[in-house]
Amino acid sequence: MSTHDMTADDWWRDAVVYQVYPRSFADSDGDGIGDIPGLIDRLDYLADLGVDAIWASPFYTSPLHDGGYDVADYRSVDPRLGTLADVDRLIEQAHARGIRVIMDIVPNHTSSEHAWFQELATTEPGSPEWDRFVIREGRGPDREEPPNNWRSVFHGRGWSHVRDGAGEPTGYWYLHLFDTTQPDLNWENPEVRAEFVDILRFWFDRGIDGFRIDVAHGLVKEEGLPDFDYTVPDDQKHQAMFDEDSAHAPFWDQDGVHEIYREWRRVANEYSPTRIFCGETWVPNPVRLARYQRPDELHTSFNFDYLQAGWDGKAMRMSVDETVANHAAVEAPPTWVLSNHDVIRHRTRLAPVDAHGDPDLERGLRRARAATLFTLALPGSMYLYQGEELGLPEVTDLDPAVRQDPAWHRSGGTDGLRDGCRVPLPWSGAVPSFGFGPTANSWLPQPADWADLSVEAETGVEDSTLELYRRALHLRRAETALGEGPFAWLDGPGDDPTDLLAAVRTPDDGLSVISVLNLADAPAVLPAEWGTEVLLASSDDVAVLDVHEGPAALAVGSETAVWLRRPMTEP
Ligand code: NOJ
Repeated sequence: MSTHDMTADDWWRDAVVYQVYPRSFADSDGDGIGDIPGLIDRLDYLADLGVDAIWASPFYTSPLHDGGYDVADYRSVDPRLGTLADVDRLIEQAHARGIRVIMDIVPNHTSSEHAWFQELATTEPGSPEWDRFVIREGRGPDREEPPNNWRSVFHGRGWSHVRDGAGEPTGYWYLHLFDTTQPDLNWENPEVRAEFVDILRFWFDRGIDGFRIDVAHGLVKEEGLPDFDYTVPDDQKHQAMFDEDSAHAPFWDQDGVHEIYREWRRVANEYSPTRIFCGETWVPNPVRLARYQRPDELHTSFNFDYLQAGWDGKAMRMSVDETVANHAAVEAPPTWVLSNHDVIRHRTRLAPVDAHGDPDLERGLRRARAATLFTLALPGSMYLYQGEELGLPEVTDLDPAVRQDPAWHRSGGTDGLRDGCRVPLPWSGAVPSFGFGPTANSWLPQPADWADLSVEAETGVEDSTLELYRRALHLRRAETALGEGPFAWLDGPGDDPTDLLAAVRTPDDGLSVISVLNLADAPAVLPAEWGTEVLLASSDDVAVLDVHEGPAALAVGSETAVWLRRPMTEP
């Protein structure tokens, strides 16, 4: 059961972790960029919401060519976002409210402004400085061709020239699986490994509770860096983070990566309470995912398989089954996530689209609320992304001139739509920046109609999405079933078992909770033995049927989730 006991070692097993994208959360100084003091000012909001931990996306010194996932100095804070003293204050003030703080570590690549990369211009091929990155001689007579055919996840070539002090190509190339400003580190080099252990300790010693690991599946590359037989042409790839090819690529999910996490786990275990890791692991299936959660490796990893299931009962159920089974085999709890800073917000993603491809955002919200409630009743931990508790939709009409996603620029605008989920949060008031900061500034413009979706507008409003999340999180903490209870599917009432998903969690005290997700367009009548005691519902379309004879039954509206107390049966 998640706990406020800050000395506990197992809090992460069923925690609700709230992802903060610092630049877009709250701006304390009015420059239009969210910052750490702004986050500290809003900790009461997060405590009241009922989250167990926050995970903050990177706030290190960075030229921000990829939203801070291009780190120039891993031991400092970007001056636009705050200072080391602010981070110390954040940790202290979060802990005082029973909230843990997880940072983001970016070990696959640095920024090209990192001191190590800058040293290439003044040193020679073959020197220890060059061995910190993945650098090879070019192919062809003049070494004018890159060393292999690997592409950047953000489109285009995965290699760029190493240039000398005068800016001339050296005939050597560096690998960048992401932007040209994100050179891949060489994890075969012990100096790189030692450096990151030192960085972990730097932050663990300051009191950080754990790290989310960026591109955790990417650090080790196949020996010899062989060419890859891509099946998806670069111009047909529209999902920056993952595509069909990722399953077999010689730069993802290599066996050698696990040794790195064994070493990191030993470091985390030296601390009390133990520090934790959550891997960002875009791997092809739950079997490969669970390998990262073996007892001497990462505590958890994001389960993106479930996120990708969409509004599809069959796919959701299959993903839950595979995830729960494969995690059980390594004795690790699953994680669940529906939105983050890299994917379309789930209100928009789950919305049905009309003939023109436009999403029906009202139904999208209905579905999103239902999916969240159902997911919060699954065993394991859940990651929420800032703003989903307000029901924010994706912003799809940003002007190209304001877009910053490097994949947008590298793909010529066909991919890289991630700015749409990173628009600064609306907190209060009727005009931008809606309380995001003390001025009208926000680094991405907010839609004019977000006044209705602000924290202020939703607070205390019975059927608002914010109040639904708040109630769900508090109930989840109070109900033993939703923390520790073993999980089992129940047979639903209809012919098609995937129109309605139903599961029960039964803890030792027998106070079971049934969670139901009606995915269909029509209401469903639940079996009477499930009872009618509603703990929480995602819409008000839930009614006890007036039955003349026999026990009462509950009718659950279309696209609605409900948590029920299962009636105690006689022993
Ligand atoms: C995954 C991060 O979530 C994403 O935002 C970033 O662009 C890539 N890794 C590269 O660091």
